[in-house]
Amino acid sequence: MPQDNDLHNSTVNNTPIPTHRQHRSFCKDGPKRRLIMASCFVFLLLLLAAVIIGPTLAFLASGSSNRPLKVAAFNIRYFGRNKMLDTTVANHIAEILVRYDVILVQEVRDASGRSLKNLWSLLNKTDDWGLVASARIGRTRYKEQYVFYYRVNLAHLLGTYQTPDSSDVYEREPFSVEFEYFSVSPGVRKRVVLMALHARPKDAFNELGHLPTSIKSAASHFKDAGGVVAMGDFNADCRYVSATKKSKLEIFRDDSQFISLIPHSADTTSGHTDCAYDRIIVFGNDIRARDAKVYNFQRAMGLSDEATGDISDHYPVEFQLY
Ligand SMILES: *[C@@H]1O[C@H](CO)[C@@H](O)[C@H](O)[C@H]1NC(C)=O
Repeated sequence: MPQDNDLHNSTVNNTPIPTHRQHRSFCKDGPKRRLIMASCFVFLLLLLAAVIIGPTLAFLASGSSNRPLKVAAFNIRYFGRNKMLDTTVANHIAEILVRYDVILVQEVRDASGRSLKNLWSLLNKTDDWGLVASARIGRTRYKEQYVFYYRVNLAHLLGTYQTPDSSDVYEREPFSVEFEYFSVSPGVRKRVVLMALHARPKDAFNELGHLPTSIKSAASHFKDAGGVVAMGDFNADCRYVSATKKSKLEIFRDDSQFISLIPHSADTTSGHTDCAYDRIIVFGNDIRARDAKVYNFQRAMGLSDEATGDISDHYPVEFQLY
């Protein structure tokens, strides 16, 4: 198993790795210094085993998967405490999310992080879920977070990458995560980079114009991945990006290195709008992404317009990795 090394060296975000300071306070100088140092070492090893190797073993123990990995991106409008305090809305959101193995949630706006944790607990009632989140990003006091929830037995987090943006192109710079997952070929594990972008509506054309460069830099950051799938609410339609402008964007051009999985004709919005805002763009030659579609949860769950609007003005866009 050539990839074992990488697995054990991987880090998991949001995991309290003991800092140097804490380490010193455990390991004071003194007469029995050596013994204490040794126990400290063992203690740290055990801690490391618990926080890092545990999830890795859980992933490896699950062995393989005979179905593709189901991935989605969902802009849950104003996701925060109000949504999670309404149990009907919270349960509907969880019901949508558990359709997937890895899901990107956008428009997360909760500085306390409590709503993320609440949603995580709801998901954990069904399976073991992991969470990895970006920093809170935005030019003003208005910030959003990109958050991925994933089934730890099917996807193993290897790393994260926040796109640098020195010329300030993006309001919310793309955030990428690398996962290892089981391909449908027996015994084969693959790596994929999932890149999140919630474009600023008024700058969507400009931000999307820069996306190819950002996708390529994420691809070169994660050299062992089969490719990058950029996804999210790109605001790539209707009054933000006209048909003429769409035809100029490299990510949508047939002769480019990018494959767009959600057509311009799709409607990724709930309610009365009809816009293909949410997109999935594939880059790289070892990515088998198929079955892309919009998940109209209103129809699937038989919800009223009001109940739908309480959840979001967007539908998830989804695909499967084979
Ligand atoms: C969810 O489950 C994971 C994996 O078992 C665990 O690490 C995490 O702490 C749980 N989170 C919550 C909020 O219960």
